[in-house]
Amino acid sequence: MNPTLQAVRGMNDVLPDEADLWLYVERTVEAWFARWGYRNIRTPLVEPTALFRRAIGEATDIVEKEMYSWRDELNDEELTLRPEGTASCVRAAIEHSLLYDGPKRLWYAGPMYRHERPQKGRYRQFHQFGAEALGFAGPDVDAELIVMCARLWEELGLAGLRLELNTIGSPEERARYRADLVQYLEANFDGLDADARRRLYTNPLRVLDSKNPRVQEVVAKAPLLADYLGEASRAHFEGVRRLLDAARVPYVINPRLVRGLDYYNLTVFEWVSDALGAQGTVCGGGRYDGLFAQLGGKPAPGAGFAMGCERLIALVRDSGHAPPPPRPDAYVLQQSDDGFAYGFVLADELRAAGYRVVQHAGGGSLKSQMKKADASGAWLALIVGEEERARGEVSVKPLRRNEPQVRVPRAEAVSRFAVLLQNAKS
Ligand code: HAM
Repeated sequence: MNPTLQAVRGMNDVLPDEADLWLYVERTVEAWFARWGYRNIRTPLVEPTALFRRAIGEATDIVEKEMYSWRDELNDEELTLRPEGTASCVRAAIEHSLLYDGPKRLWYAGPMYRHERPQKGRYRQFHQFGAEALGFAGPDVDAELIVMCARLWEELGLAGLRLELNTIGSPEERARYRADLVQYLEANFDGLDADARRRLYTNPLRVLDSKNPRVQEVVAKAPLLADYLGEASRAHFEGVRRLLDAARVPYVINPRLVRGLDYYNLTVFEWVSDALGAQGTVCGGGRYDGLFAQLGGKPAPGAGFAMGCERLIALVRDSGHAPPPPRPDAYVLQQSDDGFAYGFVLADELRAAGYRVVQHAGGGSLKSQMKKADASGAWLALIVGEEERARGEVSVKPLRRNEPQVRVPRAEAVSRFAVLLQNAKS
């Protein structure tokens, strides 16, 4: 016997019961993006490795150890499965001069790949919904991105998501801060773990969001980036905060929030839930005004966010607010092959009229077919017995209410279906 094969570790199947929930969330998210004026963009799953090295940064976890990269010998290219969507959006905007006639609001959805250690809420293939507002410089768009998330949580019936907000200033302000931070961390070297020591010279700001309590003790007394910000950075942050207050979206300022990707400046934010265990960040984002130039484009500001679909959907599932999956309106069953053809055409006409119809396949007694009809969750069974067929009729049996079965002429079955369905539901 051949050995069975399994999905790659950290890459999940989404089975139909779960996929109903995905569809509900995807449709909600699509409609929500449209209401906020964001337009869809689709970019390849595979990009040149250099794109992510340049955009996300050499000294980040993603680029150092999490990318699925390989050399394509045929074309002599270094390629990578995308670990995130921002770099691709900006690449595409530059490549196609998307900003030639003004700024753009874009959204995307799809799988991302990171070779992390799989655990609850953390996968190697995961999915994101993301938004990128390209070409807008002001704090108004930062606030828009944040407030639109708050409205999505409301629409999905999610409570308890906490907004953490910070500003990381300009690259110059950060460089000055970085020098002082390194000096401070060197003076407290004994309190750092191996990871923090390694980060000390490659990416010292990441030491700030260490999860190790011992390192956190050191970090608690470290200099604060906020004290290094100039007038313009402060004003930008004030602008964001004013609009969040106006929209009544509460937030917590987290001065240690720096995010794991290097392209950010000024505003950064995360939406965090305590209901997801260790992987509680549902959505993260911020401003990235240097990214266009870094990728060789004409300088342009940008800001955006991405949310993890698996984490978002876990919250929606646990909230109990997701609608039940749609039932079939009717399940067609029949007594013979001739009956099948009769039911086949009827089902076809009903679907053309917009109804959800499943026809029994595979034969069996009417009684056993009736059990399948019931198990399908359908509102109505449409029964094509020999007698019905001979008389040009169909029997209609409500499956969810204790109502009598009725016979209707086949010729009227489609036109009367709406009323029959209504009765079966109410
Ligand atoms: P990120 O923080 O790396 O940001 O990812 C955003 C979200 O994707 C996370 O908050 C989390 O919900 C989800 N996520 C990340 N990694 C995994 C994983 N291994 N398994 C499951 N979910 C995961 C970005 O990707 C930026 N591109 C966001 C952005 C857009 N910034 C500006 N524009």
